[in-house]
Amino acid sequence: MEKHFAVIGDPIAHSLSPLMHMAGYGAVGLEAEYQRFRVKTGDLGDAVKGLRALGFSGWNVTIPHKESIIPYLDELTPEAARAGAVNTVKCSNGKLIGHNTDGAGFGRSVQEYMGAFTGKTAVLLGAGGAAKGIALALAEQGMPILVLNRSVDKAEELARQIQAHGGKASAGGLQIGAWLDHVDLLVQTTSVGLQGESYPISLQGIRPEAMVVDIIYRPWETPFLQEAKTQGCQTLNGLPMFLHQGGLAWEFWLGTKAPLPQMWAALLHEVEHSD
Ligand code: ATR
Repeated sequence: MEKHFAVIGDPIAHSLSPLMHMAGYGAVGLEAEYQRFRVKTGDLGDAVKGLRALGFSGWNVTIPHKESIIPYLDELTPEAARAGAVNTVKCSNGKLIGHNTDGAGFGRSVQEYMGAFTGKTAVLLGAGGAAKGIALALAEQGMPILVLNRSVDKAEELARQIQAHGGKASAGGLQIGAWLDHVDLLVQTTSVGLQGESYPISLQGIRPEAMVVDIIYRPWETPFLQEAKTQGCQTLNGLPMFLHQGGLAWEFWLGTKAPLPQMWAALLHEVEHSD
């Protein structure tokens, strides 16, 4: 029987999830379909009821519903409970289970390029929803994290949350400092760069061994990543993270490994032809 999956959010027109998952279904010969639905904020409860009634096996959840969907679900996995946000829902025997693959997807994508996290330190720029998921996933791996944010109080709040989960964290304002000499992994989690604008702080003098990540992938290389490259750092945009959050959602829904090479090829083809 054909399985049905979807992604819900608003805006949703540019989501690459359908293309990525459909490429995976084609690769393994799975009879399944993945659709995208624009769901406005006030319609979320009805949309969830509808997806359940229509027999969807699962769906992804994106902005602005990652937190507000929680009251409509029956259970949360520990990952979703910890992040306070859901990006993946599975309908299992009529029960809706909320999960979060954003943090682990980030961890997998970065580890693929920089190896084990042991003994390494991370600096996170930004303290919003995206930063929180990433911070908690890194802290779980034992990485000490310095959170820097334009509003220092939000950085401090995130550092406290990391500590409450047993992680090591400190906080500060968005400024350069001694961390430039010590950082192993620098992650830019804010929306600065989406319009091609440059970042408020300069990376001049950052140690070239640092791995620098920007979770944006459109544009393919933000001015922030361009500057990191100029400093000799290895860089990574947000597309590998997107791939891995999708692969982990696939595993959660289907219980099998996702065909990541084919899913990656489909993403690359699309991004290269849309820029
Ligand atoms: P998301 O859930 O996508 O992370 P968010 O929760 O609205 O979005 O968080 C946005 C983040 O980007 C915040 O860390 C914000 O900093 P403030 O807390 O100081 O607002 C950061 N941000 C947005 N625009 C920024 C800018 N022009 N310069 C620096 N930081 C910016």
